[in-house]
Amino acid sequence: MKYLAVLGRQPEISIAELTALFSDVKKLNKSLATFIAESVDINRLGGSIKIAEELSEKPLEILQKVPGGKITIGVSDYSKNASTRSAKTEALKLKQILVRHGRSVRVVESREAALPTATSLHNGLSGKNERKFEFIKVDNSWYRVVGVQDIDAYTKRDQARPARDAKVGMLPPKLAQILINLCGPLPAGSCILDPFCGTGVVLQEALLMGYSAYGTDLSERMVEYTQKNLEWLILGARSAGPSPRAAAATPRAAALRTPSNQPFQVSQGDATTFQWEQPIDAVACEGYLGAPMSTPPAEIKLKEQKQECGSIVLGFLKNLASQIDSDTPVVIAAPAWLRSDGTYSRLEIVDEIANMGYNVMNKSREGLLYHREDQIVARDIIILRKK
Ligand SMILES: C[S@@+](CC[C@H](N)C(=O)[O-])C[C@H]1O[C@@H](n2cnc3c(N)ncnc32)[C@H](O)[C@@H]1O
Repeated sequence: MKYLAVLGRQPEISIAELTALFSDVKKLNKSLATFIAESVDINRLGGSIKIAEELSEKPLEILQKVPGGKITIGVSDYSKNASTRSAKTEALKLKQILVRHGRSVRVVESREAALPTATSLHNGLSGKNERKFEFIKVDNSWYRVVGVQDIDAYTKRDQARPARDAKVGMLPPKLAQILINLCGPLPAGSCILDPFCGTGVVLQEALLMGYSAYGTDLSERMVEYTQKNLEWLILGARSAGPSPRAAAATPRAAALRTPSNQPFQVSQGDATTFQWEQPIDAVACEGYLGAPMSTPPAEIKLKEQKQECGSIVLGFLKNLASQIDSDTPVVIAAPAWLRSDGTYSRLEIVDEIANMGYNVMNKSREGLLYHREDQIVARDIIILRKK
């Protein structure tokens, strides 16, 4: 099946995520890509805001087959010459014909050519209701939206976690999903290790994606935070009843692959020396990012930070290399610092990493720098495979 993805704020990262999971990924422009997959669950993708299926029929033919009752339609136009008017005209054309045939129709309008995610979500246009549709037009092709990123769910699980610490930096859950997905497709229940687990965002997302989670951190306090947050997640999921997401948060016992045979396991340990228990199926983490900063660092401070953070990442990768099997994926978000000239300064560690027995899959790392506008400490995503 051919799908269309509406890409997130950092399209290169979204494309990398799709490429790691699906085949034949083609970038159409800065906000769209197509790909081939058997099925897609948008709740597992951090980098795409909408997923749509390619249509073999025109929207009108589909709408004419809809069983009785009110139909709701939204149209997002991503064509080269798209405008708010062109999207609205397409939707009103459909409405006119359907009304002539005696149907009751509501058009969801927007001030933009494409419906914002919140509008699609809050009007129920995510493809789950048989009478509510969002169609996407890209020149002469039509797609139907089958999934919209649940922005409310991300906010909720980011803000409702019982143990939070602004000082260790809040990894956005979407980025945690991206780091896990960049490991490539993994069987359900696979054990994801995060050796810098902090408050446990990567592990929380791993559990929600149906994996087992194994975390370690140098700080005893962070280990307690992760333990508390993951217990909260699992309890919440259990009490939420048998929804697919709740079920995903508690992988079936048979599929569990943490050393303790529990959905998750957390211990205190220094990533540069710790001996992890087996199995480790994939490693996804945000490494130590150094001191929080609100202005670009002076050159001397930058040098000191690069030295400190670089030696922890390298020490960790050296320690890990002998403990994982060949072909194990390792994805790390390392720090990069904004300079006053507007460029980011990254850790220059790729050659050393390659010498430790890893293939560096994104040597140039162009485009895989995750940051908000003007954010001083960015996350530089490094994708590795053990040789
Ligand atoms: C940027 S934070 C990670 C935050 C995490 N992604 C989360 O969800 O909260 C980096 C973490 O690395 C830990 N850390 C620093 N040096 C370490 C080391 N040598 N070994 C293991 N953990 C370390 C810190 O305690 C901190 O929790």
